[in-house]
Amino acid sequence: MPLHRGDSYAPKMTRAAIFDPTDPAFLRDRYPVYRRLRDEAPVLRTELGGRPCVILTRYADVDRLLRDERARVRSDEGVPEHLGTGPAAAFYRNSLPCLDPPEHTRLRKLIAPAFTPRTVHAMRSWLTELVDAQLAELAGRGEVDFVADVAAVLPARIACRLLHAPDSDAGELLRHVPALNAVLGQGGLTPEARTAADEAARFYFDYFTDVVGTLRGTLPEDDLVGALVAAADSDGGLGHAAVVTALTGLLMASYHTTRVALAAAVFALLEHPGQLAALRADPGLATNAWDETLRYDAPIHFLWRDLAIPLTFAGERLEAGTHVVLGLAAANRDERRFADPDRFDLARADRRHLAFAAGAHYCPGAPLSRLEGEIFLPRFFARFPDAQVTRQPERQLDLTFAELRSLHLDLGRAA
Ligand code: HEM
Repeated sequence: MPLHRGDSYAPKMTRAAIFDPTDPAFLRDRYPVYRRLRDEAPVLRTELGGRPCVILTRYADVDRLLRDERARVRSDEGVPEHLGTGPAAAFYRNSLPCLDPPEHTRLRKLIAPAFTPRTVHAMRSWLTELVDAQLAELAGRGEVDFVADVAAVLPARIACRLLHAPDSDAGELLRHVPALNAVLGQGGLTPEARTAADEAARFYFDYFTDVVGTLRGTLPEDDLVGALVAAADSDGGLGHAAVVTALTGLLMASYHTTRVALAAAVFALLEHPGQLAALRADPGLATNAWDETLRYDAPIHFLWRDLAIPLTFAGERLEAGTHVVLGLAAANRDERRFADPDRFDLARADRRHLAFAAGAHYCPGAPLSRLEGEIFLPRFFARFPDAQVTRQPERQLDLTFAELRSLHLDLGRAA
């Protein structure tokens, strides 16, 4: 699972010459450091948040570990003690990112009907409507902050539509996400954070219980919630708590990543006018543009796993129990895998980047995310052909989430 904002990253200083994750210079410009790590210390033994760990940054190593089920997301059985026994603990117990096989495999199989090509295809028309409505709101605005005015708004509307919640609930639905996210992090929780997490988990449980109760029996099975409800009702099925947790998990997993990716894609295209011209000439390149953005500027820089058995990487044996931090963004720029990796190139044939991870926890929302990019990018640039960046944007100085804090654009005339 991702390292979370609440986790602390004070490193052991032995390899600080290459990698100091608290150094603002590194956090502003990470890729040269990732390159050095891949070349000089592909298996970096260090400490993050006071916990010894090993950081992997080469594509082959990160990919291999993600696909190896002996690399676990839980270091021990059961729910961590600091989560107590209340709603936050119940949320953790049913959350995909916190589960290992066989429970993880069972749950993934049960939610699979919610993410078939059919359910994703059924979203195309309402996604297009939402995008068009959002772009119509921008017309005539002139200067906008794309992050605040578009990237933060559209994924909230998409999440609400996906989960059958009214738009007017978006603020309330998103407000509790950070408190519950802390449950998925590695660090312990203060008593206040635990109370907030319990409140958040209770809020979502009640909210989605209502949604499911109101809609049961009314939704087609090619609807994501409809498919989950059907899975709940089938023999040996998901069970109510798991359905409600899955809906909460979808909200948490889809909103932030989509918001970050939208801003990253628009920024990358505006910074590379030749590539933008290629997209304009051939809107069919939109999914390539989306995937190339995710490779070039991955929304999640690091995940972690714990080894259940000893494994060897780049000639170094790692003992069972080793806490391994996986550099997704670093792996996506590995020259051993991608030719000329620092080039943003829509024509790149190799689209097997690791921004959606790989293996058992591979993002089930990837096809939906690709559809969002495919619909949004050509429409945005057709509507605002003269859009320009007016200020160099700043990034969040966070090890895992390096998103753009704002993206000021002059939209020019609307077509
Ligand atoms: C650009 C957008 C997105 C990115 C970059 C992204 C990335 C990821 C990554 C890296 C993971 C693996 C986490 C881990 O192994 O701990 C993941 C898991 C997940 N994602 Fe996404 N995601 C995106 C959009 C979405 C969307 C739109 C949805 C749902 C509608 C979604 C639902 C999920 C779920 C439920 C999981 C947990 C899967 C599991 O642990 O088995 N994601 N995502």
